[in-house]
Order: sequence, then structure tokens, then C-alpha cells
Amino acid sequence: MKGFLAPVIYLSNNWISQLGVVLVTTATVFWLFLLPSGIAADNVHPYLGILFFLLLPGLFFAGLAVIPLGIYLRKRREKSQGAYPEDFPPLDLKHTALRRLLTFVGVATFANLVIASQLTYSAVEYMDSDKFCGLTCHSVMAPEFAAYQNSPHARVGCVKCHIGPGAGWFVKSKLSGTWQMAAVNLNTYPRPIPAPVHNLRPARETCEACHWPQKYGEDRLRIVDKFGDDEANTRTKTVLLMRIGGGNGAAGIHGAHLGEGITTRYAHTDDKRQSIAWVEHKQKDGKITRYQSPDVKADAKTEVREMDCVDCHNRPTHVFELPERAVDRAMAGGTIPPSLPFIKKKAVDILRSAKSGGEIPKAIDSFYRAGHAGIYGQRKAEIQQAGQAVQAIYDRNVFPQMNVTWGTYINNIGHTDFPGCFRCHDDARASSSGKKLTQDCNTCHSLLAMDEEAPKILSDLGK
Ligand code: HEC
Ligand code: HEC
Ligand code: HEC
Ligand code: HEC
Ligand code: HEC
Repeated sequence: MKGFLAPVIYLSNNWISQLGVVLVTTATVFWLFLLPSGIAADNVHPYLGILFFLLLPGLFFAGLAVIPLGIYLRKRREKSQGAYPEDFPPLDLKHTALRRLLTFVGVATFANLVIASQLTYSAVEYMDSDKFCGLTCHSVMAPEFAAYQNSPHARVGCVKCHIGPGAGWFVKSKLSGTWQMAAVNLNTYPRPIPAPVHNLRPARETCEACHWPQKYGEDRLRIVDKFGDDEANTRTKTVLLMRIGGGNGAAGIHGAHLGEGITTRYAHTDDKRQSIAWVEHKQKDGKITRYQSPDVKADAKTEVREMDCVDCHNRPTHVFELPERAVDRAMAGGTIPPSLPFIKKKAVDILRSAKSGGEIPKAIDSFYRAGHAGIYGQRKAEIQQAGQAVQAIYDRNVFPQMNVTWGTYINNIGHTDFPGCFRCHDDARASSSGKKLTQDCNTCHSLLAMDEEAPKILSDLGK
């Protein structure tokens, strides 16, 4: 044993092997420091995972490989120069090569301990923040981050939906995350980032951590405010009683597609899952009804998917708006003063034609200065405020560097802006017995009022 060890220790005294020792000790020490956050694998941040599962082990094994390489190279060099010693002194602490090696490992480990203890804690804290997710790949994620901040999930961490609990998806998303990081660094990522996301974890496993089936079942009143194109921006309201329906039984929107024991599968012909060839509805008793579209050829290439939350709620948090809706919302909220003449029409026109956000306040300003001098004189502050609000709409929806503009990302809830529910509920596709997927206006909601200035239903409700 001694006879074999002594030459190895002698030979390991070369810069390549020493580099290997540094790599191995660095990787080990950092890995140990990350261990506590690494095994609490429930919701570990993806980039921490990359470090923990890929980079540090990679360094460790690279170091292990480099140590014998250095030994081999030194032996070859010394042999060829005839400098390789015939004999080695016995191994004890008087042995300089051994002492040197031990000191070297000791110093490297100590230095690593000092560095790692300072660095890892703050790094872990930082990588757990949504800012990191949203901004690290700055321009890449900018559209999603902006839309997210403006959504009902603005306080829900990215990882809660994109990874969820458990080890399997954790590692899977880690691997695809590494690939994505490489794509960002090589500047080869697609613009815009394509939707739907293909390796998204099945939504029921993530969404249902917060929205469990019994909970999301009550009917819900929805009031949609709109403003007209006229001088007064006439305000109207649409009132819908949404038949959301529980996960229990097959009632309502949720129950019909995802109720207990019910599954809905569909085949789509396009990447965006908009053109649907057939839908299959399996009931609790196992009875399957298949609705075939008359428009899609029987031999069309399709991909089959089981419906989950994201087939309807594909924009639960990255909610991009269309100009009309965004302006309506800002006017209803008062950030765009609804009493400015023609502001609805003007704001929408400007948003549609603007090439950059910066020019918007000026365009609104000159509209009132040129055509409404009286108002311009009296209400300059409101006009300015409107300009800022319209620009803000532009800035959170249009991202030229990512080729994201109005309507780039389709929203599948509803049917007015995009096909949405009517992808299947088109009154055309039929089962073998001739049953159709209904488009009856009171199946999914009761239309209590549509574009009315003073809906009776709201005064009845005391609003
Ligand atoms: C409430 C759940 C949820 C949260 C929180 C969330 N996402 Fe998403 N995200 C989704 C869903 C669902 C999709 C898939 C949309 C699709 O498949 O059409 C998606 C898609 C994406 C996409 C692909 C492009 C797109 O717009 O479809 C990116 C990039 C993204 N998310 C980044 C983020 C970042 C960064 C955060 C945190 C700042 C975050 N997400 C937080 C649910 C979420
Ligand atoms: C970590 C918890 C959490 C997760 C995971 C989560 N949500 Fe939510 N969700 C919330 C909270 C909190 C709200 C806001 C509730 C409120 O405003 O009353 C919300 C609101 C919603 C709303 C109502 C929005 C509105 O307009 O009022 C929908 C729809 C929704 N979530 C769908 C989803 C979907 C789909 C997923 C999975 C992709 C998901 N959520 C994942 C916590 C979560
Ligand atoms: C067939 C389409 C569809 C599917 C599938 C679907 N939803 Fe919904 N969901 C809707 C519609 C439509 C609404 C009502 C939206 C509105 O009022 O604007 C809604 C409303 C909600 C709300 C808000 C409820 C409230 O009381 O405010 C939540 C939360 C929600 N869904 C979560 C989920 C989750 C979680 C899943 C998956 C388990 C899911 N949905 C699957 C269509 C769907
Ligand atoms: C992928 C296809 C598909 C999409 C998209 C889809 N549905 Fe459905 N929907 C079905 C199928 C299949 C049935 C079950 C028909 C049956 O009972 O055989 C159904 C049934 C329903 C029912 C029950 C109808 C009844 O007669 O009781 C409601 C309500 C409903 N859907 C609402 C919606 C809403 C709201 C959306 C959009 C947010 C939507 N669906 C999107 C396929 C779809
Ligand atoms: C398959 C289910 C379904 C059917 C059938 C359906 N709707 Fe809807 N509708 C929805 C959903 C879901 C929304 C809510 C979208 C949202 O949350 O913004 C909606 C929203 C609306 C709105 C509000 C639009 C807005 O500007 O926000 C109107 C108006 C409307 N529907 C009218 C109709 C009429 C008219 C019919 C009959 C031709 C009909 N709907 C049939 C599911 C349906």
C-alpha cells in the first residue's frame, strides 16, 4: 500500500492535480452548505437546483478526473526526462510532498468554508425571489413579469405554478431550465417565448394546491364595464352570472369538464391548440361521447391532450390585454378620466398605432391642444394623467424586443376576443347520435344584461 501511495503523493504535486483538488474541495464545501435548502425539495428555486444538482456535482467530478490526469502527465514528463526517482522515502509527516499536499487541501478547504458561509445564504434568499425569476433573464421574461405583476397571482411565486411540489417535476424542470439558460446565453431563444408551454406540469397538481375542487364551485356575478366611441364615452355594463359549478357532480363549467370521475380529451391540429379535430367526454359511469368536427379531415395530423385547468385558464397570471379592454378597465378605475371627450376612442387608436410607449403622452396632449382648446386650457393635469395611464398600458403589453404585441398571446377564457370556449362549443361538431356541443347563450352564464347603460338587475341588487 505504502509503495503505491508514496509515488502518487509525490506525483500529485503538480498544478493540474492541484487545480483538481481545489475543484473537488470547492464543490464539496458549497454542496454541503446548500444541502439544507437542497433537500427541502418541495419548492426549491430552479436555479438553486441547477447549482445543487448539476453545476456542483459537475465541478466535483471534473476535479476528480483532473487529479489523475495531472499525475499521469507528470509521470510521463519525468520518465521521458529521466527525472523520475527510483525510490521513495517512507510516508510520514516529515515527507515534504505529503506535508505540502495536506497543507494545500487544508488551506483550500478553509478558504472555501469562509467564502461559502458568506455567500450561500444570501444567494439562496435572492434566488428564491420572484424578481430573480422575472428579471434575471431580463428582456426574455419581461413580458411575463409585467403581466404577472398586474394579475390576481402577483403574490404567488413563479415556482408554485411552474414547478410545484415533489421531486420528479423538480428535476425535470431543472433540466429544461438549464437548457433554457444556455439558450439565453447563446441568444438562440425564440421570440416571443412560445405558448402553450409544453413541459408545464399538469395544472391540477399545481393549481389545486390553492384552488381545491370543492372550493371553486360557486356561481359568480361578473360585471363588464365598457365605454363607447362617442364624445361622452358612454358607459355601459354587461352582467353575467357565471355558472362555474363545483368539482362535485357534473354541474356547471368546472363540473362538466373536470368533475369527479369525468375526463375530457381532445385532439388539436395546431401548436396553439386552437383547431380541434375531436373531443371525447368520459362520464363517471365510463360512458364516452365523442364529438367530431365536420371541418377537420379524418387524416389530419393531431396531438391528443387531456383537458386540465390551463386549457381554459391559460392566462391565469400572464394576463395580456387588448387595447379596448385595457382602456375600459383604466377608465372604470379612474386612472384615465372618463369625462375627457373622446378619450376612449383616441386612447385605443393611439395604442393600436403607437411604435413606442414614449410617444403616447405627447400624442394625447396634441389631440386636445389642437381640437379641444377650451378643455386643454382647463384640464391639463387630467390630460397628462391620461397620457401616463395610456402609456402604462402600452408598456405592460407590448415588448418589441420579444416580438410581443397586442394579441400575441391568446386567452382561452370566454369567446369574445379569441375563439376560447367556442373552439369546441361551436354548434357544429356532433356525436354519432347527432348530439352537439352547445352554444346556447345561457348554458355557461345567464346573460342578465348586455351593454346596457343602467341594467335593471344591478338596481335590483342595490348597486
Ligand atoms: C398562477 C400560476 C402562475 C404563476 C404564479 C406564474 N406563471 Fe408563468 N405561466 C403559467 C401558465 C399556466 C403558463 C402557460 C400558458 C400556456 O401554456 O399557454 C405560463 C407561461 C409562462 C411563460 C411562457 C410564455 C407565456 O406567456 O405563455 C413564461 C416565460 C412564464 N410563464 C414565466 C413566469 C415567471 C417569470 C413567473 C414569475 C414572475 C411566472 N411565470 C409565474 C402560470 C403561472
Ligand atoms: C399558491 C397559491 C396559488 C396557486 C398555486 C394558484 N393560485 Fe390562483 N389564486 C390564488 C390567489 C391568492 C388568488 C386571488 C384570490 C382572490 O383575489 O380572491 C387566485 C385567483 C385565481 C383566479 C381568479 C382570478 C380572478 O379574476 O378573480 C383564477 C381563475 C385562478 N386563481 C386560477 C389559477 C390557476 C389556473 C392556477 C394554476 C395554473 C392557479 N390559480 C394557481 C392562489 C393560487
Ligand atoms: C372548461 C374551462 C375551464 C376549466 C377546465 C377550468 N376552469 Fe376555472 N373557470 C372557468 C371559467 C369560465 C370561470 C369564470 C371566469 C369568470 O368569471 O371570468 C372560472 C373560474 C375559476 C376561478 C374563480 C372562481 C371564483 O369564484 O371567482 C378559479 C379559482 C378557477 N376557475 C380555478 C380553476 C382550476 C384550479 C381549474 C383546474 C382544476 C379550473 N379552474 C379549470 C373555466 C374553466
Ligand atoms: C376541448 C373542448 C372544450 C372546450 C375548449 C370547452 N369545452 Fe365545455 N364541454 C366540452 C365537452 C366535451 C362537454 C361535455 C358535453 C357532454 O355532456 O357530452 C362540455 C360541456 C360543457 C358544459 C355543460 C353543458 C351542458 O349542457 O350542461 C358547460 C357549461 C361548458 N362546457 C362550458 C365551457 C366553457 C365556459 C368553456 C370555455 C371557458 C368551455 N366549456 C370550453 C368540451 C369543451
Ligand atoms: C361554452 C360556454 C359559453 C357559451 C355557450 C356562451 N358563452 Fe358568453 N362567455 C363565456 C365565458 C366563459 C365568458 C367570460 C369571459 C370572461 O371571464 O371574461 C363569456 C362572456 C360573455 C360576454 C361578455 C363579453 C365581454 O366583453 O367581456 C358576453 C356579452 C357573452 N359572453 C355573450 C354570449 C352570447 C350572446 C352567447 C350565445 C351566442 C354566449 N355568450 C354563449 C362562455 C360562454
